[in-house]
Amino acid sequence: MRIAKTPWPLPLLLPLLMLAPPATAQEPGGATGEIGDPERAERLYRAHCGRCHGVQGLGGEGPELAQLVLPRVADQGQLEQIIRDGIPGTGMPGATATILDDQAVALVASHVLRLGAQMATDTSGVTGDAERGHDLFWAAGDCASCHIVAGRGTAVGPELTIIGLRRGADYLREALRTPAARLPVARAGARSGFLEYLPVRVVTRDGDIYNGMRMNEDAFTIQLMTVSGTFVSLEKGDIAEMEKRVGHSLMPIARNLTGDDVEDLVAYLTTLGR
Ligand code: HEC
Ligand code: HEC
Repeated sequence: MRIAKTPWPLPLLLPLLMLAPPATAQEPGGATGEIGDPERAERLYRAHCGRCHGVQGLGGEGPELAQLVLPRVADQGQLEQIIRDGIPGTGMPGATATILDDQAVALVASHVLRLGAQMATDTSGVTGDAERGHDLFWAAGDCASCHIVAGRGTAVGPELTIIGLRRGADYLREALRTPAARLPVARAGARSGFLEYLPVRVVTRDGDIYNGMRMNEDAFTIQLMTVSGTFVSLEKGDIAEMEKRVGHSLMPIARNLTGDDVEDLVAYLTTLGR
C-alpha cells in the first residue's frame, strides 16, 4: 500500500472531494439511483465504522477520518480498497468482517470523503501545543522509558511511532487519563482476541519474581518484557505462581500531568506518523 507522505495541495484535492458519486456507479447490479444516496451512506458509515472512527469521524479506537487529507488515501479507489480489504495486521477490519458489498463500500467511501470536505471548514478536536507535548514526552513525562518513537526509547508499552495514524484524539486522551479503560486487543490473524499488554506477575520455583508485560504465550512457555525493559522467556514447568492482571495497566496514571499537559501530549502524539 502506498503511503502519501506529503499533503496534497488544495487545488488538486478539492476536485477529488467533489467526486461524490463513486466511480463504481456503472458496475453491474449497481442500483445507480441509490448509489449517490447520502443518507444511506451515512447510515452505513454509522453502523459499520462509527464505533471505531466516531460517528462524526473524529476518531476513537481508529484514527480521525474527518480530515482533508487521509495519510494513506490518495484517491477514492484507494479508500475503497482499504474499506474492502482492511489494513492487514492492524485493527482495521476488511469488508468481509464488516459485511459490506461493493456498492456499500463505495457509498461508505463517499461519506468518508464528505466528512473530510466538511472538516476543511471546521477546527479539529485537538487544541494542545504539540511542541510542548514533544518536550513533555521526551523529558518531564518519562514516556520514553516505556515507549519507542522512531527507534528511540524502550519497548515496555506499545510503539508509538505512527500512533497518530492509528488512534484518534479521544482515545489518546483516555489512554493517558484512565489507562486501564482500554487495553489494546489484537484483532488480526492468529492472535485475534489476544489481550495485548497484559500485565503479569510471575514467581518461579527458584523464587525469582518478574513483573512485566506478556509479549507472547503458548502451552509451554511465556515471554515477558519486564518493567525495567528486559526480555524474559520462561518455561511454564519452572513457574510456581502466575497472576494475570486482566483490566490492569502498567501505564502510570497521568496524576502528575495537568489537563494542559494531557492536551499537549495528545497534540504531539497526533502528529506521529503523519
Ligand atoms: C474495529 C475497529 C474499526 C472498524 C469497525 C473500522 N475501522 Fe478503520 N481503522 C481502524 C484502525 C485501528 C485503523 C488504523 C490502522 C493502523 O494503522 O493501525 C483504521 C484505519 C482506517 C483508514 C486508514 C486511514 C489512513 O489514511 O491512515 C481508513 C480510511 C478507515 N480505517 C476507514 C474505515 C471505514 C470507512 C470503516 C467502516 C466501513 C472502518 N474504517 C471500520 C479501526 C476500525
Ligand atoms: C511504566 C511504563 C509506561 C510509561 C512510563 C508510560 N507508558 Fe504508555 N503504555 C504503557 C503500556 C504497558 C501500555 C499498553 C496499554 C496499557 O497497559 O495501558 C501503554 C499505552 C499507551 C498508549 C495507548 C497506545 C494504544 O495504541 O492503545 C499511549 C497513547 C501511551 N501509552 C502514551 C504514553 C505517554 C504519553 C506517556 C508519558 C506521559 C506514557 N505512555 C508513559 C506503559 C507505559
